[in-house]
Amino acid sequence: MGVKLDIDLVAAARPNFIKIAPLFHALARESWCDVRLIHTGQHYDENMSAAFFTDFALPKPDLHLGIGSGTHAEQTGRTLMAYERICLEHRPDWAIVVGDVNATLACSLAATKIGIRVGHVEAGLRSRDRSMPEEVNRILTDAVADVLWTPSDDAGDNLRSEGIPEERIDFVGNIMIDTLEFMRPRIEVSRVREGLGLVAGGYAVVTLHRPSNVDDPAQLSMLVDALVRISAELPLVFPVHPRTRARLDEAALWRRLDACVGIRLVEPLGYVSFMNILTGAALAITDSGGMQEETTYLGIPCLTIRTTTERPITLTQGTNRLVRGDQLRDAVDAVLAKATRSTALHRPPALWDGRAAARIVDSLRRRM
Ligand code: UD1
Ligand code: UDP
Repeated sequence: MGVKLDIDLVAAARPNFIKIAPLFHALARESWCDVRLIHTGQHYDENMSAAFFTDFALPKPDLHLGIGSGTHAEQTGRTLMAYERICLEHRPDWAIVVGDVNATLACSLAATKIGIRVGHVEAGLRSRDRSMPEEVNRILTDAVADVLWTPSDDAGDNLRSEGIPEERIDFVGNIMIDTLEFMRPRIEVSRVREGLGLVAGGYAVVTLHRPSNVDDPAQLSMLVDALVRISAELPLVFPVHPRTRARLDEAALWRRLDACVGIRLVEPLGYVSFMNILTGAALAITDSGGMQEETTYLGIPCLTIRTTTERPITLTQGTNRLVRGDQLRDAVDAVLAKATRSTALHRPPALWDGRAAARIVDSLRRRM
C-alpha cells in the first residue's frame, strides 16, 4: 500500500478516555495508518485523566493542548484555536472525535473548515433537550462530520430524520462495551470493593455531575436529602466528581453527606476500581451518560435523575429508568422490592459486543 493515513484521535474528558482506548489500540495495530493521540486537557486532575491512561495502557498523548476549565465559550473557543493551529501545521487526513463534550465540537469544527475529514464516534444520540450543552455539541458535530459511527439503531434514525445522507452513517455499536469487555479480567480481580467494606449486591453506587442537578443549590439540597434517607436502608458509595465536590462545598452540603454513616464519599475512581464497584452494586443512582449504558449491558438497575435521555435504548432494552429527585426514594424501594437481577436472561442491544472499534477501523479503511 502507498502513503499512510495520518489520523488524529482526540480526547478531552473522562468519558472520552474510555471511548478512545479500544480505538487507539486497534488503529495502532494497522499498517495503513499512523495514529496521533491529542489530549485537549479539559479534564486534568490525576484521577479524572492520567489514571485512565494508566488503566488502558495508553501512551503519553502526542500533543496536550492544556485547555483546562472555563465557560463553554472559553473552553470551546480555546480548543478551536489550538486544534486549528495543530491541523495547519501537521495536516492529518482524519480527525476522530468521540462523545459530546466541548472538545468534540471544537475539534470537528476546526478540522472540517480546513478540509480535514472528521469521524464521530457515538454519533446520532439525541436527548431533544437543548438546555444540555452536550445536545448542542452532538447536533453540531454530527452536522459537520464526514462519517457518523452510531452506537444504536435509534441514533441512525435520528441522523436520517435530520437529513444526513445514508452513506455518511455506519452503525458500529457501542465502544464503551469494548472497553468493559477488554478490561473485565482486571475489573473482576480488583479488590477495591472489599477495601471499601462493600458486600456484593448490598449497596448502591451514586454519581452526579450534570449542571441541572448540581449547579442549582435547591435541586442539589433535595438530592442530598433523598440520598441521606435512602442510605438508612441501603449503603451508598459516591465517587464525587470535582464539579459536584465544589458545589457541595459552596452549598455547605458536603458535611451533611460526609456525616451520614450509610454514605461513603470517595474521590473520583479510576476505571478498573470504579467498574469493580459498579459490577457488584444492587443498583446505580446517576445522571451519567456512560453509566446508563454500562448498567444496561450488565443488567444492573439504574435510576437516572434526569427528565430525558439521549440513550433511549437503555430504557426500552435495558435496566434504566428516568426519575425526578423527589421520586428517588420510592424508585429505590421499588428496585429493592423486585430484587431480581436477571443477568442470565439479559440480552444487550445489537452490536454492544466488544467489536465496535474493529468495525470503525473497517469503516475507515473502506473510506480511504
Ligand atoms: C464535562 C462534559 C460532560 C461530561 C463530563 C464527564 C462538557 C460541556 N461537559 O462536564 O459532557 O459528562 O465532563 O465527566 O464538555 N474540574 C476539576 N478537575 C478536572 C476537571 C474539572 O476540578 O480535572 C472542575 C472544575 O472546577 C471545572 C468543573 O469541574 O470548572 C467542570 O468541569 P468541565 O470539564 O467544564 O465540565 P464537567 O462537568 O466535567
Ligand atoms: N467512571 C469512572 N470513575 C468514576 C466515575 C465514573 O471511571 O469515579 C467512569 C464510568 O465508567 C462512567 C464513565 O466514567 O461510565 C463516564 O463518565 P461520566 O459519568 O463522568 O461522563 P458521561 O458519561 O456522563 O459523559
